[in-house]
Amino acid sequence: MTSLIDRQRQHVMFTWSAQQRARPLEIVGAERARFEVAGKGWVWDLESQVYNVNVGHRHPHVQARMIEQIEALPACAPNAALPIRATLGELLAAHTGLAKAFLTTGGSEAVENAIKIARLVTGRSKIIARKHSYHGATLAVLEIAGDVRKQPFAATMRTPLHIRDPYPCQTPSPGRPSEWLASARALVQREGGETIAAILLEGLTGTNGMQRPPDDFWPGIRALCDEHGILLIDDEIFAGFGRTGRWFAREHWRVDVDLMVIGKGLTSGYAPLAGVMLGDAIARRFDDEVLWCGLTHYAHPVSCAAAVGSIEVLDREQLPRNADRVGRVFERRFAELVQAHPNVAGQRGLGLMRALELNCNAAPVVERAWELGAYLPWRERLLFVCPPLCLREDEAERICDLLAEALADGLTVTGASS
Ligand SMILES: Cc1ncc(COP(=O)(O)O)c(C=O)c1O
Repeated sequence: MTSLIDRQRQHVMFTWSAQQRARPLEIVGAERARFEVAGKGWVWDLESQVYNVNVGHRHPHVQARMIEQIEALPACAPNAALPIRATLGELLAAHTGLAKAFLTTGGSEAVENAIKIARLVTGRSKIIARKHSYHGATLAVLEIAGDVRKQPFAATMRTPLHIRDPYPCQTPSPGRPSEWLASARALVQREGGETIAAILLEGLTGTNGMQRPPDDFWPGIRALCDEHGILLIDDEIFAGFGRTGRWFAREHWRVDVDLMVIGKGLTSGYAPLAGVMLGDAIARRFDDEVLWCGLTHYAHPVSCAAAVGSIEVLDREQLPRNADRVGRVFERRFAELVQAHPNVAGQRGLGLMRALELNCNAAPVVERAWELGAYLPWRERLLFVCPPLCLREDEAERICDLLAEALADGLTVTGASS
């Protein structure tokens, strides 16, 4: 009999994979911070699926909101007025401090629309981003960012405008800006401020490193944008909706932005939805000018219901605050792991958006963690720990015990342990 995986492989492509080498999981159930795999059992979900299931799996309130909308009106034209769209707009404005939302189906599309809006508003075309960055998989945003996933296409792309962001970075001092800020200033000077539409930055960078920016970076970028009439776009697709222990990562740097891009945790992954939040001045501009942006599934009613439900849960259960509290358990335990293992070089991140940095390839540790019951995302020497935000402190302790064992065994396998 054909297995489910082979049946699916015949006619449905797997993402980011050579099709015959893809080893997909057969997920048969999920609850809060864990999921169940056929033939294996329950594992901790340290990737929150794709860093998006912020409220946790199968939350009854989000499911109820969606079912209510499916029964009331599941499909509807983009420009129709609906109570669920108005409610979502009010919730987003209240939580982001920005005036209006433009709602897309996915994050890449949202970043593209933010860039279109920046071009319409400034009449300029260039976009600056960080070298260590990811802003999505469509051509325009792949070209702008630095992520390795652009490599097969790079030869046919324009040279990106990248801020150099080495890590660790020297601490800035009065009169000597950080290398990051100095690089941004030099780039704007070289290109000419009057040609640059926007600087696009992740609130906290996701799989490209989770590096904490130097203290002068965000405020210095804001000042640079103000000086040259450049818009500041904050991409909170990964870091937003509580993941870093604040509603949005930029709150850690206390900086206002002109446009903000949201996705992933907006619906906790229960339905596809992302968007661009527009500050008041930019939003008002389109009171009289045409907004040349639109999509068939714009502000899809069932996705809006998932977003309303998810935001209500984040609010009622105070999950951003919980992410901060539980994140401190990981911070303390990771510090012990850094002390204990010469091959654990350090830790990065905020809240429940965390990484452990090894001195060697992380694959054996990932494999051992899987045997012990945790699904652990990784890239080269970085292990990412990004569970759903409903995780409790005692559960974080248990995950840390598991990680300690996986590191002890995994680093022995590589011969890297002391
Ligand atoms: C910071 C950031 N921006 C944009 C995207 C693209 O979002 P999507 O995969 O929904 O198109 C991602 C996805 O991982 C992301 O992490």
